[in-house]
Amino acid sequence: MRVVILTCYPEMFPGSLGYSVIGNALENKRFSLEVINLHNFGIDKRGSVDDEPFGGGPGMVIRPDVIEKALNSITFKTDNYCKIFLTPSGQRLSQTKLNNLSKHEEMLILCGRFEGVDQRAIEILDFQEISIGDYVLSGGEIAAQVLLEGCIRLIPGVLGHPESLLEESFSNKLLEYPHYTKPRVWEDKKGIKHEVPDVLVSGHHERIRSWRKDKAMKKTKSMRPDLLKEDL
Ligand code: ADE
Repeated sequence: MRVVILTCYPEMFPGSLGYSVIGNALENKRFSLEVINLHNFGIDKRGSVDDEPFGGGPGMVIRPDVIEKALNSITFKTDNYCKIFLTPSGQRLSQTKLNNLSKHEEMLILCGRFEGVDQRAIEILDFQEISIGDYVLSGGEIAAQVLLEGCIRLIPGVLGHPESLLEESFSNKLLEYPHYTKPRVWEDKKGIKHEVPDVLVSGHHERIRSWRKDKAMKKTKSMRPDLLKEDL
């Protein structure tokens, strides 16, 4: 996948995308990252990209002509691309959406800052508006890294154990079952001993599968009952 980022803060990339599984995928060219500074397309010598909102109100808004110029500097090499604008007022990101996004060959991400981006740019230049959750960050850069981290690990060949995708949270509308490792008996600071559930060391695969399914269901009911109703 080819990823192109439009941002006022190019130094924020690759950021977290340079580490671990995603960092390896970047190094191994499973995806490429081009980071474009919006200030290069500013309207004056200082590279100004924003102005006051019409109708008044706080903050500044990124100009549509700046976005258009930046977009015109990019040539998509395929028809299989998407253009995303990250904003708290977009459609909420989900695992289903990540699965669909990860199938694109090229992805352009516009990171907002200030009060936002002129609505005409979003509509006329055909950006999908995506939010990573119901809270407000100061800009889209961290949101872009969240979206990309979620997307890139779904690209075939990126994960060492692709079967883990089948079991993890949201893969079947349930949260994932709990995990345990050594030591089998762990003594806490108060001297109380905590044992790993017996079934997990029984070697009985069918019983383990059924125990995990039951735990996943109970955890989902208690932590996220909405998932059992919601069409993600
Ligand atoms: N920019 C600021 N807050 C955001 C959010 N919650 N999701 C996506 N982009 C954002």
